Amino acid sequence: MESIRYSARRFAEVLGLSPQELTEAETRGVLTRLRAEAPQRTSYTVDDLARARGALGRQPARRPMRKQLFLNFKGGTGKTSVSTSYAFRLAEMGHRVLVIDLDSQGHASKCLGVAGEEAERTLFDAIIKKTPLEQVIVRTGMPGLDLVPSNLTMSTIDLSLMPLAAREFRLRNSMKEIESAYDYAVLDAPPSFGLLNLNALMAAHDLFVPVLADFLSFHGLKLLFETVQSLEEDLEHVLDHIFIVVNAYNATFRIAKEAREALQKHYPEFLLKHVIRQCTKFAQASSEGIPIFAYDAESKGAQDIQAVLDEVRARIGDPVKLKLASGSDEPKPAVGGGVVVPRVKTAAETAR
Ligand SMILES: Nc1ncnc2c1ncn2[C@@H]1O[C@H](COP(=O)(O)OP(=O)(O)O)[C@@H](O)[C@H]1O
Ligand SMILES: [Mg+2]
Repeated sequence: MESIRYSARRFAEVLGLSPQELTEAETRGVLTRLRAEAPQRTSYTVDDLARARGALGRQPARRPMRKQLFLNFKGGTGKTSVSTSYAFRLAEMGHRVLVIDLDSQGHASKCLGVAGEEAERTLFDAIIKKTPLEQVIVRTGMPGLDLVPSNLTMSTIDLSLMPLAAREFRLRNSMKEIESAYDYAVLDAPPSFGLLNLNALMAAHDLFVPVLADFLSFHGLKLLFETVQSLEEDLEHVLDHIFIVVNAYNATFRIAKEAREALQKHYPEFLLKHVIRQCTKFAQASSEGIPIFAYDAESKGAQDIQAVLDEVRARIGDPVKLKLASGSDEPKPAVGGGVVVPRVKTAAETAR
């Protein structure tokens, strides 16, 4: 993250200024110190960004921590690429964000420039040994963006959770103590079906499900949504929102269009309008350990994540009325070999 450089144009844009307003602030306004330190400046760092945001008083309003989980039991659908880019962008916008890497492969850590294998502690310590989460959190080098790293010690966590009391609630409980320190917690889940992911679901307000536009992804949703439904029945946890995000979309493939239409038909209340198009920059950015916004903010991938973020924020800020799929007398849609539509909170419930 320390290697990230913004051009003056992008720096102004991220701060919500025009290039002229930035120059103005640097010559006569509140950013004169920034300019004085580097009169010949051609680029800006992430620390410059944080300082400028502070000096300009352009921090977004603080909000109660919103826990957002990226999960799909299927691998390779973009959970890590999308969640880390999304989290980075929130931090770039001035929010306080904690990424929790739940996958023992540590890819989210890597995407944020942290070598998970070198981490002294992981979520394992927090939820199995009850080490305060604060002591597990590391800085990413991007101001406002912190991380609970992961490595192979996480691979036995499901087994270790098994005999513990309140085994489905350990993550939710361990997050309580850091609730006031962050606006968002972004959880990147492994593609597995087990106690850790159950913990993650129990902790989450919102569930993001990145899917590929193919029919395997479509069928994979059934198991996931059955699990979500059982959470309400067995553990009394109802999610605020579910967002299905079509990832790596290529509109020139007929199968992709058809799969998206099927999602639209069966999950209209969950499917996000914006898709994330296929974009090779995700892989390039992750190999450098920086998020796509820092690698190429103009890329299709970065633009699409921004569109998704905006759409989600509009939905969260102003909850739409969601159709009740269970607990009502309405028949469930009996299509495609059984589509499961879990219940999410209604607008009235969310407002409470
Ligand atoms: N929109 C996209 N376009 C092209 N490649 C993508 C896109 N999103 C993710 N990828 C690539 O797909 C692979 C799997 O993505 P990843 O985020 O690791 O998925 P998951 O975390 O669900 O396993 C990675 O190589 C990643 O670079
Ligand atoms: Mg992953």
